[in-house]
Amino acid sequence: MAHDMETGEIPMTTGPVPVHVAIIMDGNGRWAEARGEARHAGHRAGVASVRSTIEECIRQGIGVLTLFAFSSENWRRPRSEINLLMDLFLTALQREVKRMQTNDIQLRVIGDVSAFPEKLQERIRASEHATRRNNRLILQVAANYGGRWDIIEATRRLAAAVRSGDMDPQDIDEKVFARATALNGLPDPDLFIRTGGDQRISNFLLWHCAYTELYFTPVLWPDFDAAEFRAAVTEFSRRQRRFGQTSAQLRETS
Ligand code: IPE
Ligand code: IPE
Ligand code: MG
Repeated sequence: MAHDMETGEIPMTTGPVPVHVAIIMDGNGRWAEARGEARHAGHRAGVASVRSTIEECIRQGIGVLTLFAFSSENWRRPRSEINLLMDLFLTALQREVKRMQTNDIQLRVIGDVSAFPEKLQERIRASEHATRRNNRLILQVAANYGGRWDIIEATRRLAAAVRSGDMDPQDIDEKVFARATALNGLPDPDLFIRTGGDQRISNFLLWHCAYTELYFTPVLWPDFDAAEFRAAVTEFSRRQRRFGQTSAQLRETS
């Protein structure tokens, strides 16, 4: 769904409900600290918000949900916190695959998973394989993901195709490039949500958020329930997405 220069085709959906929602699930640590608990408790509590958000996506007919679980910069955290996050991810995968099958959810993990423990990598591969034919919701978990990493990986892939003679530099356009990224041609996010109050992208989907509607909320991730998610989608439905056009032009075509 990349922008098409000739037809002027717009890159994302314009409907009142987003097709693709991407979320930076932030604020777990502060949530725990505010209760005098260890940061770990916040990460554990955040799992419930993941579940309610997935359920709400299914209820609303949202097709793709991308959750930022671990950034390429999160390796800078204390080893004990990193280990806890890996354990949480592993147990969540073990526990949730059955539920994904029942609810027709396809799991895709995006990011450089080669840096993860072998056991976790195996579990990721097995969960992706088991759910690959499900299509009610595509759930993408961004793990050891970085937007710049993604752009560089795509560039490497395309450069290799050019070097091997399979592609000419002239063949590279937005559509081809988008297909070479981790999203592999899935639609760009329509709505980006960041919880926890910070207003930055933190190296999330840099290529793909070119025209995404941004929504920031101070609510900490463990407190982000179904009602909070609905509030974000409602706010999205009120926005006018112009993609470079004027409001008058949009009135003419609607
Ligand atoms: C987000 O919550 C979860 C991850 C980054 C894995 P944080 O752990 O960043 O929570 P805060 O921002 O410190 O409150
Ligand atoms: C972004 O949160 C990454 C995830 C939610 C996984 P951080 O809490 O790591 O972001 P910064 O570093 O404060 O921007
Ligand atoms: Mg944070």
